[in-house]
Amino acid sequence: MKFTLQVQDKFSKARAGVVETAHGKIQTPIFMPVGTAGTVKGVHQHELRNDIKAQIILGNTYHLYLRPGLDVLNKAGGLHKFNGWDRPILTDSGGYQVYSLSDNRKIREEGVTFRSHIDGSKHLFTPENVMDTQRVIGADIIMAFDECTPYPCDYGYARRSIEMTHRWLKRCCDRFDSTEPLYGYDQTLFPIVQGSVYKDLRERSAEKIASFNREGNAIGGLSVGEPAEEMYAMTEVVCNILPEDKPRYLMGVGTPINLLENIALGIDMFDCVMPTRNARNGMIFTRHGTINIKNEKWKDDFSPIDPDSDLYSDQVYTKAYLRHLIRSQELLGAQIASLHNLHFYLWLVNEAREKIVDGTFYDWKNKMVKVLGQRL
Ligand code: GUN
Repeated sequence: MKFTLQVQDKFSKARAGVVETAHGKIQTPIFMPVGTAGTVKGVHQHELRNDIKAQIILGNTYHLYLRPGLDVLNKAGGLHKFNGWDRPILTDSGGYQVYSLSDNRKIREEGVTFRSHIDGSKHLFTPENVMDTQRVIGADIIMAFDECTPYPCDYGYARRSIEMTHRWLKRCCDRFDSTEPLYGYDQTLFPIVQGSVYKDLRERSAEKIASFNREGNAIGGLSVGEPAEEMYAMTEVVCNILPEDKPRYLMGVGTPINLLENIALGIDMFDCVMPTRNARNGMIFTRHGTINIKNEKWKDDFSPIDPDSDLYSDQVYTKAYLRHLIRSQELLGAQIASLHNLHFYLWLVNEAREKIVDGTFYDWKNKMVKVLGQRL
């Protein structure tokens, strides 16, 4: 993998760059649609590729390991072959999902034992076997196995947790570096900074993570319920320490405003279920603010879903029709709304990139943050 920093904004820490992987280039800052189980829920590959021009999608080790399982993924020749997506893929390690989804989990030095949320079966994730699993899935960028602490989290726990996450990182690197990719193309491993909302722990963790000198770095444990100001404070502390010449990935973030504020602090990559999950509940993001399409207000609004958008489905379907579909829990409603929201997120990061390049990012960002907070 290669990262080229192209432009550094003069009025903020925002940057524009390019990440090059075996499956193609990613222009940063970028948003990565979440394809938990190997599918971005409700969105076809040709829509991702051709209509909204997604450059990279995400998959989850936890889900793919449980279903369809490693045997199927291996026989398929990896996730790219299995789901037909030939552009870059990043997989999360399960270091978040085992805590948020599974039952009965026990965290020990060796790893985490947990019960599947699907059938209750018992499993053990260790730094080593999570690396092996991500070799089988075959993503271009794979994530270290970490502990994502909850919010709030007491200081002592957060301190002991980063210490373990750092020891786990060493084990991840040792395993990753002593194994080969299975499908003939390179993979790269990103470590994850933790430390809850404690500045000194974040600094310690960022310094430790940077010392591993991997090709990119990630920040985890944010957007877990803390106020946005605390998230930004932690991003700022960590970005001041992580090297400038490597991509920085902020995991699980966030709202459109969160994206812009964190881009201004030096983040290059994001993922979040928000555009797709909230779409299924009728939340529609636009460049003028957020719409709850289920509201009575849209009942007989026969204007296009989004007059600013060049998406066919945003033009041809009306707000009233989308409201009807979502209220009736029709599959098409989830599809239209998910595609719309992902298109909007990708438009937003692409706009940010263009503004960084032409030197107008900072003023544009401040203006957008005011507008995007509106409820329409
Ligand atoms: N996704 C969102 N936050 C996190 C995190 O802290 N760790 C991991 N592995 N994934 C995440």
